[in-house]
Amino acid sequence: MDLQNKRLLITGGAGLIGSALASQLAGDNEIRIVDDLSNGIPDSVPESVDLVEGDITDEAVVADVVTEDLDAVFHLAAEKYVNTDRPREQMEVNETMTYNLLERMDEVGVDNILFTSSSTVYGEAPRPTPEDYAPLEPISVYGVTKLAEEGLLSVYAHSHDFTVWNFRFANIVGPRYGAGVIPDFVYKLQEDPESLTILGDGRQEKSYMHVDECVDAMCHVIEHAQGSMNTFNLGTRTTTSVTRIADIVADEMGIDPEYEYTGGDRGWTGDVPKMRLSIEKLAGLGWEPSLSSDEAVRQGVRDVLDEPQNEPHLSV
Ligand SMILES: NC(=O)c1ccc[n+]([C@@H]2O[C@H](COP(=O)([O-])OP(=O)(O)OC[C@H]3O[C@@H](n4cnc5c(N)ncnc54)[C@H](O)[C@@H]3O)[C@@H](O)[C@H]2O)c1
Repeated sequence: MDLQNKRLLITGGAGLIGSALASQLAGDNEIRIVDDLSNGIPDSVPESVDLVEGDITDEAVVADVVTEDLDAVFHLAAEKYVNTDRPREQMEVNETMTYNLLERMDEVGVDNILFTSSSTVYGEAPRPTPEDYAPLEPISVYGVTKLAEEGLLSVYAHSHDFTVWNFRFANIVGPRYGAGVIPDFVYKLQEDPESLTILGDGRQEKSYMHVDECVDAMCHVIEHAQGSMNTFNLGTRTTTSVTRIADIVADEMGIDPEYEYTGGDRGWTGDVPKMRLSIEKLAGLGWEPSLSSDEAVRQGVRDVLDEPQNEPHLSV
């Protein structure tokens, strides 16, 4: 689908990735956003965009925002924390949102949907992990919610003639949202530049991608993929360890803290300590990241330092 003169709904469009996607597309398309602002920032939404504040676990809200004149729904809203103390609620909320959207889209004849899945569907798989790796054995409920939602999307692709763009993201970094390891380290070091407590042994290694590149890659896939169920990994070809992230943060802040490790090979139960996705399928469609994982982290640190007013949330 070309991304010109389209009417698009972005769920979770006031969030990190959704707001960057809206900013990229708003010039050439008509965009509506629905976001309950549980983790969104209204100021991040471009002025030309119609922002509806609403919770899409509510079918009435979904009926209002999913109208027959839409060309596609880009579904980014989620309870996204891997390290949650409310796993059952997370499961119910994420499945309900996605099912509400799919049923309503089918009812009004909108049959293009983008979905933001996650590397966590692979669990502790060998690396680099390709899209056709099996068996998929997630180790967090968050990963299970994404896998179950992918299953629903597959039903609509294969039995209801939908076109699905399903993206399994590595860790996406960028400005304005106080969640994740980068803001966590920045805020802690702003309070105490002498020492930093690092969860695990610091050797957890994951692939990081900057949000601008993530948006660019998603748009490229939407414009070039030809299937009905298009599943693509999105990430960089390299990884960054947690200790390396701390080094980059310290370097950007011009400080030299001592590190203390909480120990163990992972940050929390359900954390996948090593993650790197194969991006050969994406490369085959003609898209390559220009930033390495380390460079994406450095850019993410600069983004957070430029806007230090955000409060930290839970780690992802
Ligand atoms: N950031 C990452 O590293 C990463 C990695 C893998 C997958 N993802 C997925 O990408 C998507 C976007 O992630 P993000 O980092 O931009 O997250 P985010 O939290 O910044 O954005 C999600 C938005 O959804 C909104 N939202 C949550 N529940 C809602 C509801 N019931 N109704 C309406 N709006 C609701 C929040 O207010 C928020 O603005 C999510 O689905 C997430 O699971 C993100």
